[in-house]
Amino acid sequence: MNKRQLIRSICATSIALSSFNVFAGEITAQKMADAIFAVIEADRATYTQKVVQRLQNEEEVITAEERWKEESALPLPAQMLRMGAERVSESNAGFSYALLSLWPINKQNKPKTALETKGLKMAAEKLQNFYGEETLGGKTYFTAVYPDIAVSEACVTCHNDHIDTPKTDFKIGDVMGGVVIRIPLN
Ligand code: HEC
Repeated sequence: MNKRQLIRSICATSIALSSFNVFAGEITAQKMADAIFAVIEADRATYTQKVVQRLQNEEEVITAEERWKEESALPLPAQMLRMGAERVSESNAGFSYALLSLWPINKQNKPKTALETKGLKMAAEKLQNFYGEETLGGKTYFTAVYPDIAVSEACVTCHNDHIDTPKTDFKIGDVMGGVVIRIPLN
């Protein structure tokens, strides 16, 4: 590495670190939630585009199906996210996440706390992230909700046509649900 590359790399590292307030010795719960969300979102988009869309829609090698095990198919992106979330919860990583909706196909994905319901409603109405605190079982949590948007016709048609959906009029651009991330504060 020459001097110029070294300086550039030091600058990039310090920008990355300062955005997390590492120098001040603190990472806020919101920064942590935003960072976790960035990873979840990147994995979800990459799996959808580079695995499902490529193999199912472009190369037509294999389809993604809800009953993926029985049908030797790929799991749906929402199912991949849920399996990842289950593994994280088993590993006691200190936070939890889920893809929830006010209109879930899978009843396991409906909001369970008042703040989740409020956050999903706000995310859907304002198309913005929602942040709040809630106390559950005597513990205080920072809870963030990130809107999940119908970005393609596939989202809309599959959900509207699904036998278990409580909502059949989703349109492209609608908020279909949200990624909820919960971090304990004490
Ligand atoms: C081929 C069908 C299909 C497609 C395409 C699809 N979904 Fe889903 N989605 C499902 C199924 C089935 C579930 C329930 C999965 C589970 O948790 O078991 C689900 C779950 C979800 C959930 C959690 C709430 C719920 O309904 O259970 C959200 C939010 C969601 N999908 C949004 C989207 C978005 C946004 C897209 C497009 C980027 C999309 N889905 C594409 C079938 C689909």
